Amino acid sequence: MDRGGKVLASASAEHELFASPRPGWAEQDPHDWWRACGNAVRNALQQIKLNADDIACVGFSGQMHGAVLLDSSDEVVRHAIIWCDQRSEAQANELSEMFGREALIRLTCNPPLTNFTLTKLLWVRENEPEKWKRVRHVMLPKDYVRFRLTGERAIDMADASGTLMLDVANRSWSNEVLRKTNIDDGMLPALYESPQVCGKVSKSGAEATGLRVGTPVVAGAGDQAAGAVGMGIARSGAVSATIGTSGVVFAATDRPALDRLGRLHTFCHAIPGRWHVMGVTQAAGLSLRWFRDQFGVRPSGSGTNGRDPYDVLAQEASTAPAGSEGAFWVPYLMGERTPHLDPNARAALIGLTASHTRAHVVRAIMEGVAYSMKDTFTIFEEMKVPVTSIRLGGGGARSPLWRQIQADVYGREVEIVAAEEGAAYGAAILAGVGDGEWKSVDEACDSVVRVANRIPPHEPERKTMESGYGTYRKIYPAMRQIT
Ligand code: XUL
Repeated sequence: MDRGGKVLASASAEHELFASPRPGWAEQDPHDWWRACGNAVRNALQQIKLNADDIACVGFSGQMHGAVLLDSSDEVVRHAIIWCDQRSEAQANELSEMFGREALIRLTCNPPLTNFTLTKLLWVRENEPEKWKRVRHVMLPKDYVRFRLTGERAIDMADASGTLMLDVANRSWSNEVLRKTNIDDGMLPALYESPQVCGKVSKSGAEATGLRVGTPVVAGAGDQAAGAVGMGIARSGAVSATIGTSGVVFAATDRPALDRLGRLHTFCHAIPGRWHVMGVTQAAGLSLRWFRDQFGVRPSGSGTNGRDPYDVLAQEASTAPAGSEGAFWVPYLMGERTPHLDPNARAALIGLTASHTRAHVVRAIMEGVAYSMKDTFTIFEEMKVPVTSIRLGGGGARSPLWRQIQADVYGREVEIVAAEEGAAYGAAILAGVGDGEWKSVDEACDSVVRVANRIPPHEPERKTMESGYGTYRKIYPAMRQIT
């Protein structure tokens, strides 16, 4: 990004989606991220023949919650157990008993969940004691990439909030949680605010990426907080709905706002002195990817004429009417967080007749993901979290059909911002603030984030989706009686 907020180059590199050694488990190899990062950064630099000296500062973002475990030689002890892994239900229950659920919410602003890093650490300690004995350092996914780039062990407040070891209200590690769970604070990275410089590119980091030795690096933020910054979700009232692999509805707040039932996460924002609340759908984009991979068009498959298979699917889905003629998808492929907090929830496709086509099914998947995200808006209403505008992010903002479905399901106008890079754009904004280009994240967002498009709901469809949401809400309680 240049000093005016314009994206000069961008590149990406794929890594394995995940190894799932058992249903509900999800692991990735941290080496894979570092390899992909090196390739992507090199590629971006080459695209416009940027000189590494032109890069003033580097920002960071990445998937949240995952546990990366390193030994005394800084070698990876085992594959990272990542954000959507559900194996640690027993450990979440142990934490509830140890602290009392309400007390833990008081200490960390959040209830114990399988997604949070602490329950993953406890799982390894209990189930793989030999491996745990070797663990000297714990870090989150992007912080491992940072460690390889700079040699620094650092984390930002927003990502640290998702570990269940942070005193979110006071923005420091929770001594009480660490003491009671017997986690040595020497294992944890140093805490920074997101726009703070926390290291410099090392010699080996420079060799792997093409960046210049000594380039400053800011703390950055986990994908949701950085993505929110990239969409200008900075002040109270601003809300985003992002469909990536997971789906997140995110509201910036001036204080740590708590949901009594713990259905939303209350985390530090990537902005000093601000917080946010968010609800999470575990399998949002993942629902469509799962369908694509199992029943749909493969990336290399025939019949796409070089078009993105997601575009092919979306075009097909647009031929089915709103409401998918009574077909519904509940997206609980990896259990669910908001609103059920149920690692054992299962997905379902229901209401089929012989007249339904693949188009109806794809559309039902897109609608089901939007219904699931609407559950967070319903909780925002209960909590009186203000919603003055809704901006869409991720793959769900790129697809015209998914945009319209979201406007119709949320029953509100939605906005699309000009920059499409999401969390990477937010990370670059944070780097710009760290470098002193802007005085604050607010000032940066005001000067570079631009609304490119506004999409109002369509009236007959909005009504159809409103009544569809009523039906959708009845599916999970009914399913619980049989699965
Ligand atoms: C948020 C969350 C996701 C993951 C993967 O709590 O789990 O944002 O980071 O995208």
